[in-house]
Amino acid sequence: MIKIAISGKGGVGKTTSAINISAGLAKQGNNVLVIDADPQANLTESFGIFDPVKDMYLSFSKGDPLPIVKVKENLSVVPNSLNFAGIELEIAGRMPREIILKEFMQGIGNSYDYCVIDCPPSLGLITLNALVAADEVYIPMEAEFLAYRGIDSIVGIINLVKKHFNPGLTIKGVFFTKYNEQRVLTKEIRNQIKGYFGDNLMKTAIRVNVALAESQSSGKDIFEYDPASNGATDYMSLVKEIIKN
Ligand SMILES: Nc1ncnc2c1ncn2[C@@H]1O[C@H](COP(=O)(O)OP(=O)(O)OP(=O)(O)O)[C@@H](O)[C@H]1O
Ligand SMILES: [Mg+2]
Repeated sequence: MIKIAISGKGGVGKTTSAINISAGLAKQGNNVLVIDADPQANLTESFGIFDPVKDMYLSFSKGDPLPIVKVKENLSVVPNSLNFAGIELEIAGRMPREIILKEFMQGIGNSYDYCVIDCPPSLGLITLNALVAADEVYIPMEAEFLAYRGIDSIVGIINLVKKHFNPGLTIKGVFFTKYNEQRVLTKEIRNQIKGYFGDNLMKTAIRVNVALAESQSSGKDIFEYDPASNGATDYMSLVKEIIKN
């Protein structure tokens, strides 16, 4: 099982990417588990799960096994809820507090080909748990002025995790979301980021596409909602890069 964490600044498209990368991997015939590690529970709700009876909070707080809900062929979700919002305080005094998710995931065994973790925007204990549990990190980013500054702090945390907890962790790819090729600034930023990340900058950029935003409120992934959209084309191309990686 390849464990992928999707981490990045607030609002860049982490959850949209976690949903559609998971759905795309599943469409390509892989058995996929996607973990909602964010108390905002956007991913959980996007899959049509509201107020789950069992959620990640119960696992972290009470030690229950991770709840797994099958949402479609080849695709299962570990749901979360707002209850998880206080979990960092709850686990802060626990030892060891960084390997909680990793331990739970070892309990899952090898029944999945991929496990995708949707991280919250903050770089606190939850993201730390995700990075300790993961093998690979993918970082979505917007082509905005000084975009690399926001990435600096994530790269810093990833390096600390590598040094102290998870030497095998690798940044497999950085990719643009809400991409608009028509903007002059976009090209400039693409060149900057290419200089910074080299081959780690993925070839696929996810273009701005309203169907991606619409699909979430309809409880569908982009391949079900509008398979002919740019969003579906771009995420499938990204998924193929991930599989090749
Ligand atoms: N390529 C895109 N084109 C248009 N809208 C997009 C695109 N990607 C994401 N969005 C929209 O941008 C908003 C933020 O996306 P998303 O929730 O995926 O970001 P996030 O990084 O998970 O945010 P948070 O940090 O709050 O968890 C959502 O309304 C989403 O529908
Ligand atoms: Mg999110």
